[in-house]
Amino acid sequence: MAKRTILSYPDPRLHTVAKPVQGVDARIKTLVADMLETMYDAAGIGLAATQVDVHERLVVIDTSEERNAPLVLINPEIVWASDEKVLNEEGCLSVPGIYDGVERSTSVRVTALDADGNPQTIEAEGLLAVCIQHELDHLLGKVFVEYLSPLKRNRIKSKLLKQQREDQKIDSREGRR
Ligand code: NI
Repeated sequence: MAKRTILSYPDPRLHTVAKPVQGVDARIKTLVADMLETMYDAAGIGLAATQVDVHERLVVIDTSEERNAPLVLINPEIVWASDEKVLNEEGCLSVPGIYDGVERSTSVRVTALDADGNPQTIEAEGLLAVCIQHELDHLLGKVFVEYLSPLKRNRIKSKLLKQQREDQKIDSREGRR
C-alpha cells in the first residue's frame, strides 16, 4: 500500500467527471488499499478517487468511531434520496481547514459494487448519508464549496491559494519540490 497525494482546491483536476470502473481488477484493488491508507492517514471520513487524481467512479468511506469499518463503493449510484433535508457543517480533505454548512438529504439509498466486485445496496442516514452525497459529488467534479455563495467561495479560494504558495516556498527552501 502507498499513500497518495490529495489534490487541493482550487486545483482544476477536482472538476473532472469520473468514468465508470471497467472491472474490479488488481489495479483497482491497489487503488482501494491506497485510498483507505490515504484517508485514515489524513483522519478523513471519506475520500473519492477524484481527490487522488484518478478519474474513475470509486469512493472509500469510514464514519465509524473506531475507524475500523471501511466502506468501498465502486460505480456508486444514488437510486433514492429523501425529500427531507438537513443542514450540516461539512469539511473536505481537498479544502483543508474550511468548514461550512451544506444542505443534504437526510437519507439515501445507494447501489454500488464492493471491493470484491459484488453488487451491494446501502440504506444510509445521518452522517453516512451526508458523507455518501459529498463523496459522490466529487465523482461529478463537484466540491462542497460550490454550494456556498460566490463571495464565500472566492474568499476560500484566495485563502487556500495563499496557503499553497507559502507551502511551496517552504518546500523549495528545504530543497523538496
Ligand atoms: Ni471532500
